[in-house]
Amino acid sequence: MKVDLYKKTAKDFKSLPNLEDYEKTYKTFEWNHMRHELAWFNGKINAAYNAVDRHVDTWRKNKVALYWESENGTTKQYTFEQVARESNKFGNILKSFDVERGDRVFLFLPRIPELFFAFLGILKIGAIAGTLFSAFQEQALEDRLANSGAKVLITTTELKTRVDKIRKNLPDLKHLLVVDSESFTKSLESVEKDLTIAQMDADDYAFMLYTSGTTGKPKGVVHAHRALLQEHMTAKWVLDLKDSDTYWCTADPGWVTGIAYEILGSWSCGVSTVVYGGRFDPKRWYEILQKYKVSVWYTAPTAIRMLMAKGSDMVKQFDLSNLRHLCSVGEPLNPEAVKWGIHAFGKPFHDTWWQTETGAMCLVNYPCLDIKIGSMGKPFPGVKAAILDDSGRQVKPLVEGNIALKPPWPSLMKTIWRRPQKFESYFTNDWYISGDRGWEDKDGYFWFVGRADDVIKTSGERVGPFEVESALVEHPAVIEAGVIGKPDALRGEIIKAFVVLNKNYELRISAKGGSASSRKNEKEKLKEELSLYVKKHLAGHAYPREIEFIDKLPKTRSGKIMRRILKAKELGLPIGDTSTLEEY
Ligand code: WTA
Repeated sequence: MKVDLYKKTAKDFKSLPNLEDYEKTYKTFEWNHMRHELAWFNGKINAAYNAVDRHVDTWRKNKVALYWESENGTTKQYTFEQVARESNKFGNILKSFDVERGDRVFLFLPRIPELFFAFLGILKIGAIAGTLFSAFQEQALEDRLANSGAKVLITTTELKTRVDKIRKNLPDLKHLLVVDSESFTKSLESVEKDLTIAQMDADDYAFMLYTSGTTGKPKGVVHAHRALLQEHMTAKWVLDLKDSDTYWCTADPGWVTGIAYEILGSWSCGVSTVVYGGRFDPKRWYEILQKYKVSVWYTAPTAIRMLMAKGSDMVKQFDLSNLRHLCSVGEPLNPEAVKWGIHAFGKPFHDTWWQTETGAMCLVNYPCLDIKIGSMGKPFPGVKAAILDDSGRQVKPLVEGNIALKPPWPSLMKTIWRRPQKFESYFTNDWYISGDRGWEDKDGYFWFVGRADDVIKTSGERVGPFEVESALVEHPAVIEAGVIGKPDALRGEIIKAFVVLNKNYELRISAKGGSASSRKNEKEKLKEELSLYVKKHLAGHAYPREIEFIDKLPKTRSGKIMRRILKAKELGLPIGDTSTLEEY
């Protein structure tokens, strides 16, 4: 295989990178030697205190921590001291609602400053923060709030209407705080601005996020305060954050990237951070990069491909001369996208690989190393990675297998909420098995091949087929559904659903009579209705863009839908082993 190399030269460095010698550091690195990077209270720690408050005692006190801009152009900015205070206020309000250590407080908010203050406030009092995408609809909300047993939900007037519909099913949910309500704004004005920070054990829970697997409902991945150590070190050595930078991470804190690299790890490095609250729009994005003189940018392959589709002429209309370091996460970063970045911005995107469960970057490209374009790079110091065969044995270089990591590392999840067995199922022979397949080359660079399971990545969002199938069968027209990810040039994958219709529904369509073409129209209308149905009940981003009606789903003899067969048929690939398949 021919590999294109991006060789770093002096022009790639305005100043020396924070990590100058990867190989040497990897050899001698120990996490314990890095403890001095964080502030401790006699062996105890608080991740939120580290992210913000500790800077208030330094010259960074009046440095801008947050530059916020909404879709319609409203701007706000907050210094580290102000963020510390605002989050203290949230902590105090939560205390007044009897929130205690270990209680779950969930955030169902768009990317507004209150989301950041609330998140930090929750951690500061020792409670557990959970984040929810504002695109979530009733079903997605109910699954997550019910499983977590959240005691408080913080939301907005607009989003609250979705919660009202399911509230009766959430007996643990005691309080709904609406940040734009009159009463809440009033209490923010009068509440105490000082707060005693909870001193936590490094292993105490700090935040949780629901993420999808192949089977079952989304699972609550729980992280401890100790995750900050790795989030901080990777922000420092991989994002290369420096005091002189303005940093923009385009992720939403509903996703782990937004927590680790828009709140905790990045602020822990003391960097001024841009948050854009609006939707993706190429022109607006370039305006943001230009206006805030962004120097370090962390984004996702789908966005890069969408920018690429708009062409590099658009890039040239903006002054992006401050950009010095680009990184990407979430899905495979195509070599074409890296090459386009070099052409359009004069520098390559550095691919980074990690997962909600790993809590921070694990396989990455470094400022100080050349990039093998298309590779995810090398393991972070203190992280041991390998490729294992299906029986857990390490394979030789260039052989494809399961991407695995050797525990422990500081940001490894603590547990899966209320599902300890699920947590255990990640580990085989003392290795953490990621669920991704790949290979390692002779120089120790890792390459991604695909998922070992049916998890879908659409526009960077992780979607479980089971969730979408469950939403579809709720519709009266649907008997069964099988859902797969179908490769898509822009979105990585799109969601495709194979749907078996209720016979009565089919009969109704034919009973309406009319020509064959009008019957076809009815079916097309039904497809639209089903897509919309999932969008409305599950989530704005997790709906099938393609639907196909079929008579029967391929299943194992034990009745499990064989999505891999649906996928092979869709892509015209060999169907493979069908020995467990029910007659089809
Ligand atoms: C995929 C949290 C290829 C992968 C950040 C992984 C990637 C899943 C990359 C995790 C990458 C993430 N190259 N694939 N650089 N980064 N993935 O938990 O399949 O939402 O297992 O992401 O995304 O998804 P999650």
